[in-house]
Parts: sequence; C-alpha cells; structure tokens
Amino acid sequence: MSHPVVVRHALGSYPVYIEPGALVRLEDMVNEHLPGRRVVMIADARVHQLYRTGRLGAEPWESETLTFEPGERSKTREAWGRLTDEMVERGLGRDCGLIALGGGVTGDLAGFVAATYMRGVPYLQVPTTLLAMLDASVGGKTGVNTPRGKNLVGAFHPPAAVIADPRTLHTLQEREYRGGLSEAVKHGLIADEAYFAWIEANAAALTRRDPATLSYLIRRSVEIKGVVVADDERESGRRAILNAGHTVAHALEQVSGYELLHGEAVALGLIVESQLAEELGVAAPGLRSRVIRLLTSLGLPTQPPFTVQPEALIGTMATDKKNREGRIHFALVARVGEIYRANGWTTPVPVATVQAVLKVLCEGKPSL
Ligand SMILES: NC(=O)c1ccc[n+]([C@@H]2O[C@H](COP(=O)([O-])OP(=O)(O)OC[C@H]3O[C@@H](n4cnc5c(N)ncnc54)[C@H](O)[C@@H]3O)[C@@H](O)[C@H]2O)c1
Ligand SMILES: [Zn+2]
Repeated sequence: MSHPVVVRHALGSYPVYIEPGALVRLEDMVNEHLPGRRVVMIADARVHQLYRTGRLGAEPWESETLTFEPGERSKTREAWGRLTDEMVERGLGRDCGLIALGGGVTGDLAGFVAATYMRGVPYLQVPTTLLAMLDASVGGKTGVNTPRGKNLVGAFHPPAAVIADPRTLHTLQEREYRGGLSEAVKHGLIADEAYFAWIEANAAALTRRDPATLSYLIRRSVEIKGVVVADDERESGRRAILNAGHTVAHALEQVSGYELLHGEAVALGLIVESQLAEELGVAAPGLRSRVIRLLTSLGLPTQPPFTVQPEALIGTMATDKKNREGRIHFALVARVGEIYRANGWTTPVPVATVQAVLKVLCEGKPSL
C-alpha cells in the first residue's frame, strides 16, 4: 500500500488511501479505523448491486447494508430520515460505525447520517466515483439538499479514513466519469498552475482512464483539497476557493431538476465564472478560452443542454449560502492557479453583471 495523503482537521487527522485494489482490504480498514463497532454500510442501490456481485473489483465483505435510490434526488431530509429510522429499528447504538460506499451523493447523505445519528458516529468514506475520490470524500462536509437549494442542511463531520480504489471506476458510465474531471480542473485553476498544465498535457490519457495517470490525478487533487480544508475547516476564509464555479453550478443543477450532473454543472460554472473574472478585469483575457479548451478536450460540456433563463439562475443563487447583502459572491480566478484576493477570498459581483454573463451562456453563443 502506498503512503496515504493525511488530511488534518480540528480534532486530529485522517488518512486518504489511494490505491488500486484498496477495496480488497476493506475489512482490515474497518478493523483498524472502526475497531469494535457494529458496522453498517450505506450505498445507493446501483453501487450496492455492483459491490455485491464483485464488479467493483473486490469480493464483497459481508456487512449489514442500507440502500437508497441512486441519484442527486435522493440527497434529501426524507432519505436521511428513512436511513436513520432504519438504524434505530435495527437497534444500532452510539457504538456503531458507518461505511459510505459510493459517489458524492452517498458520501454527503451517509456522512450526514453519521454526523447526526446519536449525535455523531464515526464513518469511513469509500468513494467509487471519480468525483467523490478526488473531491467529495475529503473535507468533512456532509449534508442534504432542500427544495430551495443544494446542501442547505448539513454538518461538518470528518471521516475516520477515506479508501479510494481507482479500480472501482471501470464500471462508471462515461458521463459520470467525465464529470469528476471538472473538479480536478477546478483544483488546478484555483491553486496550482503546474497541475492545470499537467491535466492539459494528459487529457487524452485521462479520457482513456489510464490507471497510472488517474492515480496521480486523484492524489494531487486530494493533496490540494486536503491542504485547503486543513487551513480553514469551517470555511471562514480560504476554503471558499473550493466553491469556484459552484455558485453557478448549483443554480444550473437545481433549475435542471438535477438532470445535469454535478460535475457537468461545475464545468459550465467554471466557464461562466472565468468570463465574469475577465469582464471585471480581475483576470486577463484568455482565461475563459483556456478553460473551455481544456474542458472540451476532457469531453465536458461547454453549453447547457437545455434552455434556461438567466433570471431563473439568479433567483436560485439568491438562496445560495455564498450570498450576503444582496450581492452575489464568487471565488474568482485572477490567473490559472491563483484566486483573486482584493476583497478577501470571494468577490461580490453586481447582479446585473452576473446576469449579462449568464445571458451569453443561456443564449448558446459560440464558446470561443
Ligand atoms: N462534500 C463535498 O465536499 C462535496 C464536494 C463535491 C461534490 N459533492 C457532492 O457530490 C455529489 C455528486 O457526486 P457524484 O457525481 O459522485 O454522484 P453520485 O453519488 O450520484 O454518483 C453518480 C452515479 O454513479 C453511480 N456509481 C457510483 N459509483 C459507481 C461505480 N463505481 N460504477 C458504476 N456506477 C457507479 C451511482 O449509482 C450514481 O448513479 C453532489 O451531490 C455534490 O454536491 C460534495
Ligand atoms: Zn463540487
């Protein structure tokens, strides 16, 4: 096993194991990180089926399991309620532990169950999508959506360990796989020019899911995110840079009724927010084109696949947690690898400017 990336938090730290075949050692990991606990696995029905039949590349480890319907529409208080009720009925006490096996939806939902069940029980993140491996499983943010917006109810609850086995990605559908790449682009864009350039140079290998290239991608992204969240676990400052692209992305996801995948929405959000940075003179011209070129070479969308009104997006952004005093706050990029910081970690932008830039996206004008 190669050495894990260690992520610090207020009460300690946790290892993130990134290793092809790591899932084979799940039972050992449970014994090490959840010793003596009655362990319940939470997975969506699709991932559970893949795991149970050995298609995630490991013989399944027998444990109690709770499942829910796959997809973003399950990241709700209702699903949280059903899972916790089931745990009470099964007689699980505060000495239990959880395994969140699946994508970011499972990590957020099962993580929120872990954060709240009996006022908090420990859990392992076992991400099986690229997006969850290189982003969502790290950082301790858990939560669910409400009808008014994404992630509006949640808690910070760091996992005991993260076990990322890139072999599990073989069964991932193309759209889901590519969606994960947009979070890696974001990591390069906000914090590491050299990493962004590496993704540019390795785009073809990444779209082929080349194992060695993928392992580096996941590790570097986890390192970047790990440092940011360790500096500012509760998002009072720097952690806000991880929201780059996300103010727009969350609005797009919501107005699409979650037809648009999170990663796809992040790709579009990065384009819109790069354009915003250019329009405000925060970034030099060329940023948006470079972002679009990379996203295109990774097979990510650069236009919404549906018609959408800027007003609908703005209305949704008004309930986003990143908005204060009527202005919309964005983590804007000054240049590849660096966030614009003249106003702190985020920049307040007049609604009219946001609306004008959204119009370009919504009218489907040429991308470059
Ligand atoms: N907590 C955080 O810091 C954070 C960060 C980024 C994103 N997120 C959240 O993550 C969510 C998106 O995560 P996601 O894209 O992983 O979605 P997801 O969990 O819905 O997974 C996508 C689909 O892939 C399927 N799947 C999972 N693993 C598979 C595998 N190995 N093979 C085949 N199919 C598999 C799932 O059943 C699901 O249908 C969003 O809700 C987003 O808000 C959270
Ligand atoms: Zn995201």
